[in-house]
Amino acid sequence: MLRTVQATRYVLPLREGGSLPAIVEADDLGLYVAKFRGAGQGPLALVAELLAGEIARSLGLRVPEIVFIEIDAALSRNEPDYEIRHLLKASAGLNLALDYLPGSTMFDPAARDAASPAEASLTVWLDAFTQNVDRTARNANLLLWHRKLYLIDHGAALFFHHNWATMHAKAGSPFAEIEHHVLLPWASEIQSAAAQARSLLNRETFRHILDQVPGPWLDSIPSEQTPAEKRTEYVDFFLRRLESSAIFEQEAIQAHARLV
Ligand SMILES: Nc1ncnc2c1ncn2[C@@H]1O[C@H](COP(=O)(O)OP(=O)(O)O)[C@@H](O)[C@H]1O
Ligand SMILES: [Mg+2]
Repeated sequence: MLRTVQATRYVLPLREGGSLPAIVEADDLGLYVAKFRGAGQGPLALVAELLAGEIARSLGLRVPEIVFIEIDAALSRNEPDYEIRHLLKASAGLNLALDYLPGSTMFDPAARDAASPAEASLTVWLDAFTQNVDRTARNANLLLWHRKLYLIDHGAALFFHHNWATMHAKAGSPFAEIEHHVLLPWASEIQSAAAQARSLLNRETFRHILDQVPGPWLDSIPSEQTPAEKRTEYVDFFLRRLESSAIFEQEAIQAHARLV
């Protein structure tokens, strides 16, 4: 189960991306990278961050610990920057945060960073499964920390949940965008990574992850369904995508073959 911490101090904005994440200190004296519910992408970006991040962890990939972070309305009071003050006010209550990895650097092939075939292949599989377009050479969203790879920033994964009514039609998508994946050059073992992934993911894994998604975060999905029913829809979607995984696995294997 994810822990819940209380934000005690807004430390520093991380201005790179559009979602205005920030380094925030919490009552356990830890530093976290907070993803705010009130940011432009809305609560479904936090849902994607939680779901794709925890699916990655289930596969044995490294993801910084994900926690819920409680933001008190008072936190914005001493914030001089209007935009940040506004964001904190709009995010009062529960938000998501990743453990901050101090001194980490972004994975960069141009700087001769490399990945192992097994890890690259499993990451490619994950991003094809979750249809994550945010793992390119320009924007790797992979941190190197103590020489190990950590996956971050899954807010843009599962984009199909923004089109809830037609979501299930996307379950068999080949996901041609995989050809832009930053780790594709090293992903020479997609077939065995796929077998490993399929042995680790099942209804119980998905159920356990979905059970942790706060109900109110699902309210922005335009549907008459209750949060519990929406959670079941996600579980069913993931199971269908798993059943049709050969389609996106072949696509990724072919995209890799075109590179070498
Ligand atoms: N857990 C973390 N530890 C250290 N730095 C991080 C962490 N998460 C994000 N960052 C840094 O903050 C930047 C923005 O975070 P990210 O999650 O990629 O959000 P976005 O791209 O939507 O702004 C990253 O590119 C990275 O440099
Ligand atoms: Mg990013």
